[in-house]
Amino acid sequence: MSMKIPFFNYKQSKESFRYMEGHTPEHIAIIMDGNGRWARKRGLPRVAGHKEGISAVVKIVKAAVKCKVKILTLYTFSTENWKRPKTEVDVILRLPKEFLQVYLPELISNNVRIEAIGDMGKLPAHTREAIQYAIDRTRDNDGLQLNFALNYGSRNEILHAIKEMYADINEAKLSLDELDEQKFSKYLYTEGLPEPDLLIRTGGEKRLSNFLLWQLAYTEFWFTDVLWPDFSEKEFLHALEEYRQRKRRYGGI
Ligand code: FPP
Repeated sequence: MSMKIPFFNYKQSKESFRYMEGHTPEHIAIIMDGNGRWARKRGLPRVAGHKEGISAVVKIVKAAVKCKVKILTLYTFSTENWKRPKTEVDVILRLPKEFLQVYLPELISNNVRIEAIGDMGKLPAHTREAIQYAIDRTRDNDGLQLNFALNYGSRNEILHAIKEMYADINEAKLSLDELDEQKFSKYLYTEGLPEPDLLIRTGGEKRLSNFLLWQLAYTEFWFTDVLWPDFSEKEFLHALEEYRQRKRRYGGI
């Protein structure tokens, strides 16, 4: 006789409990905050925190692959981040290339697909080219989709979408009467992606900072004071555990 094993079987080892499938968020979005403070606490320049942030990205991508998360969207550089000193902007915009130069082979062997969202045209050529190369090399992978939000801002995205939609209306490819939320979503950079189930923000602040404003309408939020470079698999799994206990009602009862 087969016995039905309850999902929350606390008798199981912690590890096997944590990696159980089911109720794992399909799409997780992360605001990786706290790099500057991490560095300052150690008497280091802010950019040392951004570089250390790469190690946390590696750990969380591995954990997401293990947990069979389908999509991981990382807020890497916002449209507002241009206000930072040029030296810091230059360092942040070199991180994708530095990361991919080292980790692309491993990502490929783990069946990870790289994608990007944002106003990519305004990024330096070396950033765009490194990302495009990774997108092209991983196009056929069907494991974790790793999305880098680069020069991404939600208001910019919505305005861009409205302009594209307006052009389609002018060319009679779309009529105002048939416009609905689903059709509008197709004009966003996240076209074709399911909305995030879980948003994680590290670094203690509790705000969205112009990230995925449309897409987060019914997303569960999880905040932690842990600074991004210290964020590890342990905290990531903790977020997933708490997500599993939330009841999502989408406005219903
Ligand atoms: C916010 O912390 C962080 C950023 C603007 C940069 C995020 C980039 C990374 C974590 C590295 C990305 C890695 C790859 C692989 C591309 P902050 O500088 O605002 O921190 P603070 O609030 O402590 O000042």
